[in-house]
Amino acid sequence: MKDCKTYLITKSEVRAVLTISDALEAVESIFRAYGEGKVQMPPKPYLSFEKGDLRCMPAYAPALGLASVKNVNVHPGNADLPTVMATITLFDPESGFPVAIMDGAYLTAMRTAAAAGVATRYLARSDSEVLGFVGAGRQAQTQLDAMMAVLPDVERVLFYDIDADSARALARRAEDTYGVSAASHDLRQTVSSADVLTTTTPVRSPIVDADAVRPGTHINAIGGDAPGKQELDPAILQAAKLVVDNWEQASHGGEINVALSEGLIGRGDVYADIGQIVVGARPARETDEEITVFDSTGLAAQDLACAAHVYRRLVVEGDPSGLAAVDFMR
Ligand SMILES: NC(=O)c1ccc[n+]([C@@H]2O[C@H](COP(=O)([O-])OP(=O)(O)OC[C@H]3O[C@@H](n4cnc5c(N)ncnc54)[C@H](O)[C@@H]3O)[C@@H](O)[C@H]2O)c1
Repeated sequence: MKDCKTYLITKSEVRAVLTISDALEAVESIFRAYGEGKVQMPPKPYLSFEKGDLRCMPAYAPALGLASVKNVNVHPGNADLPTVMATITLFDPESGFPVAIMDGAYLTAMRTAAAAGVATRYLARSDSEVLGFVGAGRQAQTQLDAMMAVLPDVERVLFYDIDADSARALARRAEDTYGVSAASHDLRQTVSSADVLTTTTPVRSPIVDADAVRPGTHINAIGGDAPGKQELDPAILQAAKLVVDNWEQASHGGEINVALSEGLIGRGDVYADIGQIVVGARPARETDEEITVFDSTGLAAQDLACAAHVYRRLVVEGDPSGLAAVDFMR
């Protein structure tokens, strides 16, 4: 029998080989494959527990020569453990053998940021200079890195968070890392100044008012990723060019889910999915005045693309002798 090693890859090993530009490249090409109908991605099942849930996210892209399943929990009450933990198992589609199991927490933040980065590349005005962030928690940190990677002319960054210390801390990081002018501001100023606005809060009723959003703004709506969650005034969704990552997921739990269930928008108000935009099946931004919204829920294909990159760098191209491995069939 051939080598039956399953590599066990830790968060720090993932971090060492997955930069934001790697994640942007991996996610853009998987969005292209998805737009071409070359990704298998059945809807994710949920297990409900008393104190949380567990989601299972499978994907297969023949072009990558790998399949993956991410298992990710949400346990909001966890005190001694993170509330969200994730592992990704990568499979060889030829044999079904599990070639690697890796930590998925850092990778999830990177692939989420990369999705918004790709959407911003296609949908934001290319001369965007001012970034706004509503929510300055964990996701906002990698979102900042993605925005800085795709927008060459950023001069100013505004942060709003209900916890002003978080907003100030991220503003300091933006100044130190990228040499831009950055500060904590109030919600309205953050929204109305932004050429590109990224929202990453867990709120369940809208906090971004339609009349604060300037014409020409691009919005990455990240926080709404479960039924009942929404961050944007539905009037924004009604007026904007609305791009989802995947209709089934977005209508179930994305930013659009509440407006859809209340009948404020319908399926016809969704302009495209991101795969259609990346392959050019539908034009991206067409004028400097239109407001564009990317509704991100997070696709299993994004996890697969980033995990395949990590596996390639560490195992295929690198020297895997330093990695932990098990032979489950021993
Ligand atoms: N779309 C995706 O693919 C995806 C992926 C990961 C996480 N998420 C979602 O993104 C959201 C943020 O996740 P996170 O890991 O950054 O969480 P986090 O707890 O680290 O950060 C959330 C931030 O929002 C702030 N906040 C809460 N209520 C607010 C309000 N009313 N106004 C302004 N700020 C407020 C908090 O103070 C905190 O700093 C969650 O809803 C999460 O489920 C989406």
